[in-house]
Amino acid sequence: MKIEGRTFVISGGASGLGQATAEELVRFGGYVAVLDMNEDNGAAVVSKLGADKTRFFQCNVTDTESIAAAVQGTVEWVKETGKPLGGVIPAAGISLPSTMLDRHNTPLSLPDFNFVLSVNLTGTIDLVRQCLPHLAATTPPSSGSLEDGERGVVIMVASAAAFEGQRGQVSYAASKGAIAAMTLPMTRDLSRYGIRVVTLAPSLFDSAMTSLMSNKVRQSLEGAMEFPRRAGRPEEFAMAARHAVENVMLNGAVIRLDGGMRMPSKL
Ligand SMILES: NC(=O)c1ccc[n+]([C@@H]2O[C@H](COP(=O)([O-])OP(=O)(O)OC[C@H]3O[C@@H](n4cnc5c(N)ncnc54)[C@H](O)[C@@H]3O)[C@@H](O)[C@H]2O)c1
Repeated sequence: MKIEGRTFVISGGASGLGQATAEELVRFGGYVAVLDMNEDNGAAVVSKLGADKTRFFQCNVTDTESIAAAVQGTVEWVKETGKPLGGVIPAAGISLPSTMLDRHNTPLSLPDFNFVLSVNLTGTIDLVRQCLPHLAATTPPSSGSLEDGERGVVIMVASAAAFEGQRGQVSYAASKGAIAAMTLPMTRDLSRYGIRVVTLAPSLFDSAMTSLMSNKVRQSLEGAMEFPRRAGRPEEFAMAARHAVENVMLNGAVIRLDGGMRMPSKL
């Protein structure tokens, strides 16, 4: 899909990997609806990228009404700009590490487990679900992919933890593993509408989420990378997301972005 002149919805677009993707898509002529809980960061992204190319919607992806309002706002903005919806990138995510049984003999907290799933998994599927009727109603523009009748692309964000979750990552791995597992059936459901599905699975990337790690944990994770031996940069995630938008043959795939790393059991 040609990015220029299309509108993309990005949750978690006010920070880290989501923000870098918003910046990349705008750089290539796209329009971005930034959905995030963090109003200050959302306003900063709009002022950086321009109010003509971006619009911020404060949104909590665990609240279906909040998503509905943001999607409706995006649809109205699209009517104003005339730049049709092209895709949705649900990148909002959290991590709440906790072991199955701690040293005080307390098992994993069920509310904490459900909270991680509600943001990372339900928050992903609910946003995608609510964007789909609008993507399916899009008339493919007269650009390069016209002959394919491509209407849209869904780019989900999993993690290397979907495959090699570390200690303390049961809930995070459950949420990301589910996203990886949903990729193929979602692709099969949406192919008849000309909507593709690609999932990116990063390992360690610089962001607000990973800035909370201690130096020891970070160095240990970087040491597990093959090449390059460093955390990924948000722009490198954004490059992959852009390619996933542009390349019509990428569909039904879960793509690791990990510098060859396989996460060790413990650090
Ligand atoms: N950074 C990494 O190393 C890494 C690795 C693998 C996967 N990921 C995934 O990438 C995605 C982006 O993470 P990041 O590293 O950029 O983190 P980040 O903390 O920089 O950004 C996450 C954004 O999501 C928003 N958010 C959180 N909960 C929300 C909610 N309920 N509703 C709306 N917005 C909400 C936050 O306000 C924040 O702006 C996440 O899904 C994360 O799990 C990150």
